[in-house]
Amino acid sequence: MGVNIRGRSFLTLLDYTPEEINYLLDLSAEFKRLKRAGVDHSYLKGKQIVLLFEKTSTRTRCAFEVAGRDLGMGVTFLDSKSSQMGNKESLADTAKVLGRMFDGIEYRGYKQSVVEDLAKYSGVPVWNGLTDDFHPTQMLADILTAKEEFGDIRGRKLTFFGDARNNVANSLMVVCAKLGMHYCACGPKENMPKAELVEKCREIAKTTGATITLTDSVEEGAKDADILYTDIWVSMGEDKALWEPRIKALKPYQVNKEVMAMAKPTAIFEHCLPSFHDRNTTIGEEMYEKYGLEAMEVTDDVFLGTQAREFDEAENRMHTIKAVMYATLK
Ligand code: CP
Ligand code: NVA
Repeated sequence: MGVNIRGRSFLTLLDYTPEEINYLLDLSAEFKRLKRAGVDHSYLKGKQIVLLFEKTSTRTRCAFEVAGRDLGMGVTFLDSKSSQMGNKESLADTAKVLGRMFDGIEYRGYKQSVVEDLAKYSGVPVWNGLTDDFHPTQMLADILTAKEEFGDIRGRKLTFFGDARNNVANSLMVVCAKLGMHYCACGPKENMPKAELVEKCREIAKTTGATITLTDSVEEGAKDADILYTDIWVSMGEDKALWEPRIKALKPYQVNKEVMAMAKPTAIFEHCLPSFHDRNTTIGEEMYEKYGLEAMEVTDDVFLGTQAREFDEAENRMHTIKAVMYATLK
């Protein structure tokens, strides 16, 4: 039976079956081929989308804007400072208004319940561009990148090092469970994902051949890993005061040459970006001055090394987001 997700929202990968996720990945690869060949694919001419950002973004915003325009759609960008949303107008009212004007809505912000309410009240597909809990469009790009490397990704081991309870790590655990991969969360006990989500993923894993492992041992995390993944230690929306305790707690989980050497020789490094791999950012320099760290979650040699694939992931954000919008709006 063919996969049909027209009219659906894309809020968390928990809502999608393995077949639907694989369909989106195949569609993404096809859009990548069309884009690279310069073939017109403005299949959604006449449609309009709006992008709501309550947190900052480079990749997600640009991916939605470029993908929307490539598909022939009109694209409107709103941030919380330049709209009434949340300040003078309730979310439900905003959603109802936007649903009357737009065919689809992207939202990046804080609570997962906001993106769920937008979908409930707008009546049009809503795409989660990152919340405190999940970052589902990122996962499609990460898995597409892994498939480009390995082909079949079933049975591959992906280890996330560091703040394994953040939005990106949560979504990686879900996608690995859905696609029959071995997911390992590697970090201190306090940074492990919520037990409820782990249980949900373990239930899914039983049906796909995936496994979910939580460990505080870097050796165990890196051993036999095919994909070593990390993300920044303090996420958007978290208190800046967390930098100091996080640096102390997560420094042992930095992905560096020694950690890469413990994994399979064919392993790749992935990162959703942005990244603190050198001192060329305001925060990177501040952390160097305060704590003497040249790099945080990943060292520069790994980030710039031959096993690193983060810029392929960044490009793949656009192709995968295009697939999600096309499949839900066509
Ligand atoms: N990976 C990612 O979501 O990047 P941005 O924060 O730049 O959108
Ligand atoms: N965990 C990070 C991901 C950024 C794409 C954050 O939420 O800031």
